[in-house]
Amino acid sequence: MYAGFVGPHFPVGGPVPADDLVGREPYLRSTAARLGDGEHLLIAGPRRIGKTSVILEVLRRLRRRGAVTAYVDCLGATDVRGLAERLASSLLASLEGKEGAFEDARAIASGLRPSGRIRYEHLDLVMPIVREAAAQRAFEAGLDLPRAIAQRAGKPVVVALDEFQAAGRLGPRVFDVMRSRFQAQRGVAYAFLGSEEGILEELFGEKGRPLYRFAVAHDLAEAGGHRFGIDPADWHAYLVRKLKQKRIAIAETEVDRILDATGGHPQDTMQLCAALYHFMRDEGLRAVTAEIVGIAYEVALRELDRPFALHWADLGGQKWLQAVAKRVARGEPLYAARSDTDVPRAEVLRAVNALRGRGLVVRTGRGSYEFLEPMFAEYVRRLDAGIVPSR
Ligand SMILES: Nc1ncnc2c1ncn2[C@@H]1O[C@H](COP(=O)(O)OP(=O)(O)O)[C@@H](O)[C@H]1O
Ligand SMILES: [Mg+2]
Repeated sequence: MYAGFVGPHFPVGGPVPADDLVGREPYLRSTAARLGDGEHLLIAGPRRIGKTSVILEVLRRLRRRGAVTAYVDCLGATDVRGLAERLASSLLASLEGKEGAFEDARAIASGLRPSGRIRYEHLDLVMPIVREAAAQRAFEAGLDLPRAIAQRAGKPVVVALDEFQAAGRLGPRVFDVMRSRFQAQRGVAYAFLGSEEGILEELFGEKGRPLYRFAVAHDLAEAGGHRFGIDPADWHAYLVRKLKQKRIAIAETEVDRILDATGGHPQDTMQLCAALYHFMRDEGLRAVTAEIVGIAYEVALRELDRPFALHWADLGGQKWLQAVAKRVARGEPLYAARSDTDVPRAEVLRAVNALRGRGLVVRTGRGSYEFLEPMFAEYVRRLDAGIVPSR
C-alpha cells in the first residue's frame, strides 16, 4: 500500500510528529493526565523548544481516549470573532472526526446548501456564533461552546490556546471576558501556551489580573531538571535510531559533540542533525566524525540566520539591549568600565533583565549570564566580527 510521503527525516520548523518528539514522554503523560482531570495548565517557554509539538500530541492522545479537543493559534486570529470561529471550527472537526463542518454551518446560516459535512445534531450548537451579527456576542457564544459540547456530548473537552498572549491584541477586555466565560465550565480543561513568558506570568500570576491563578504553570523548559527539559540520553537514543534507519553510525562522543554545540536546544539540535544527515547522504558517508559535525554546524548556523536575525532586530527596538547582548555573547564582564562608548551602569541590569524576560539569556551565577542558545550567541559574536553575510 502506498503510504504517502514520510516527511523529512529530521523535521525542522513546524510541529513534529510523535515519533520525532525527543525526550518528552514524561511531560506528555503528565500533561495529558492533568488536562484529562480537568486541570487548566499554563505552558510558557521560549520559542522553538517544542511547545506546539507537545500540545498537539497531547491532544491526539486525549482524543484517542474519547475527549473532544480544540487547538487555536491566537496569532492567526485578527479579531475576536475570528478567534471564536477558529475555536468553533476546531471543536467541530474533533466532534465530527473531519474538517469542514463549521464552513457548512456558515453556509446554512447564509441560506446556501451545505455539502454534508455537518451532522444535524451539531448545527444548533454553532448557530449562535454564525448567526450573531455583533462581534462581541459572537465571541462570547464561541467561548461558551466548549461547555455546551461537554454537556451535549457527555465527553470531556480540552481546549489549547497557543500564543495566548496575542489574544490580548484582539480587543479591549478580551481576558476579562474569557475569565468570566471559562470560570464555570464543567468538564472543560484549558491549556494556555505562549512564548512571551513575561506577559503570561503577569496575566496568570499577578493579583488583580483577569486570569490570576486561573491556570497552573507546567514547566516545559526545565522539565526533569534537564536543559530544555530533555534528557541527553533521549537525544542519544533518538539519533542512533534515526541514523541507523539510513545505515549511518554515530558514536556517543559525536552525539555529545552535537549537544555541546547546540546546548541541547530542540530546534537548533534538529537543524544541525538535518544538515548532518543531508551532507552524509549526498556524500555517501556512513560514519559520523567530528569533522562532519563541524560542517553540519556551519550549515545549520546559516539556516538559522533568519530566526536569529528576527530576534536580533527585535532587540534593536530598545536602547542598550544589543550592546549588552553582545557583551553576554562574548562572555565579557557586564560592567566593563571602558570608554565613553560604554553602557551606563544603571542600564546594564535593566537590559539583562529584559533579555532574560525574552527568554534569550539565563543567569548562571552571581552577576554572570549566558545565552540560552549557544548557537544564537555564536551568531551574535560573528555578527560583530562581520562574518555573517548580511541580506
Ligand atoms: N522534543 C523535540 N524533539 C525534536 N525536535 C524538537 C522537539 N521540540 C522541538 N523540536 C524542534 O523544534 C521545532 C519547533 O517546534 P515547535 O513545537 O513549533 O516549538 P514551539 O511551539 O515551542 O515554538 C520543530 O520543528 C523541531 O525541529
Ligand atoms: Mg509554537
